[in-house]
Amino acid sequence: MSYSTLTDAAAPRDPKRPPAPIPPHEQPGSTPGLRDYWTFFLNARRNLISAFTDIAYEQPFVKRKLRGAETWVVSEPEAIKRILLDNAGNYVKSQQQKRRLEPALGQSLLLADGEAWRWQRRTTAPAFQHKKIVGFAPLMVAAAEDMLARWDKEALPERNIAREMMGLAYDVLSRTVFGRAAPLAADRMGKAIDLYLDTAGRMDLAAMLNLPIWVPTLGRLRARPALNWFKAEIGGAIRERRAELARGIGSDSGDLLTMLLTATDPETGRPMDDQLVYDNALTFIVAGHETTANALAWTLFLLSEFPWAEARVSQELAQVLGGRTPGADDVARLTYTRQVLDEAMRLYPPAPFAGREAIEDDVLAGAPVKAGTQILVSAYILHRHRRLWEEPDLFDPERFAPGRREAIHRFAYIPFSAGPRICIGMAFAIQEAILLLATILQRYRLTLRPGHVVEPHATITLRPRGGLPMKLERRQ
Ligand code: HEM
Repeated sequence: MSYSTLTDAAAPRDPKRPPAPIPPHEQPGSTPGLRDYWTFFLNARRNLISAFTDIAYEQPFVKRKLRGAETWVVSEPEAIKRILLDNAGNYVKSQQQKRRLEPALGQSLLLADGEAWRWQRRTTAPAFQHKKIVGFAPLMVAAAEDMLARWDKEALPERNIAREMMGLAYDVLSRTVFGRAAPLAADRMGKAIDLYLDTAGRMDLAAMLNLPIWVPTLGRLRARPALNWFKAEIGGAIRERRAELARGIGSDSGDLLTMLLTATDPETGRPMDDQLVYDNALTFIVAGHETTANALAWTLFLLSEFPWAEARVSQELAQVLGGRTPGADDVARLTYTRQVLDEAMRLYPPAPFAGREAIEDDVLAGAPVKAGTQILVSAYILHRHRRLWEEPDLFDPERFAPGRREAIHRFAYIPFSAGPRICIGMAFAIQEAILLLATILQRYRLTLRPGHVVEPHATITLRPRGGLPMKLERRQ
């Protein structure tokens, strides 16, 4: 079955293939041996997206057996719907995901399951309501304006745009999470998150062998300084804000930290203790800044690779904004810019893998799944699946044109996941990405340094390995 949209004869595809590893070939029906697993492990450690063989991109699911436990890579939209929505309670966050993130993010919304997750979701949901997010728009644009003022002043001919976008997305979160409090030092924070993702985030043998979470790995030991830094900085901001609130100051300041400190479960009235406030504040920063920064970096890279798309975005910005500062109302009007963003997140989903574990036996895509099975839902594989997309490796924003995006199966395109555990920051991130792109692209044209080879590299997020050196040209 194919869920993809039909080809639009009026919009010829650009045959240039944006960079992505070619999956190694695997003979369908063959049984992988120890050597294949070892090759998989080495490839996964180097770059998780280069480890999966071509059959993962062709079959509804692929099964692997390791230490007696089965792992399934599922890429069939109806089966994904069952995992993420219809029978979501049966598929809890996997030990692998917990092992990598729990040392930093504790029992936050991202990692908790069952009732421990449900009450946190209920309690934090009001902070991400439409009205709240619209209220953040001026802060988002101000962060971009400050970055552009720095670019104007320094007038460098070239910048590492991947790093710039990290700094910018981090600045947006500093302003929205911490509000009036002095934002945490962006450089230090960026370095701490980098260190954490490069160490604890990497595929390690312990994770692959599903060793219990308490087994210390080299990666986790190396990540410890980053964790200590998070604790000191964010813990300090929390203590400061608690003290202010106790003195009756700033309860209406509208930032996410104040919301976490004052929110109560609408059903039970339970507030969050300092540890949970810490876990969630750090989760918002880690889950919200890397991902959005990568979405922006990949979009800017693709616009540089495909000048016809860049010309159309510029035209749209001129028509809709005419040079003025964008606001929340403009997000829905910038439809082509949104199509390019959506296509960038299809080719380069910022969060390329989600792991789950089946609690009880179930049936997926007509096949029985045993309790304890590890489930991998990969937006990266799904978004490039041969059965679901026409020319899946090519860049084509027309897939998301109004009237055509509706033909895409809801569970075939999941950059923000889906179902009850859909990214709580989705609307925040989309508004942010469109406003930042509009602000940057009205002022600058960006082109990749000629000859620079871009390689998508996956750990927990999907980044351009070695950054994105881009030439900056100030528009008149
Ligand atoms: C382009 C940007 C973003 C992308 C692609 C993205 C993607 C995702 C994905 C795929 C998940 C599900 C993970 C899983 O089920 O294993 C998720 C969950 C989550 N995201 Fe995002 N995210 C983005 C931005 C943000 C922002 C800006 C925030 C907060 C300010 C945020 C906070 C969270 C949280 C707290 C969860 C856990 C939700 C739950 O389990 O109930 N994300 N995100």
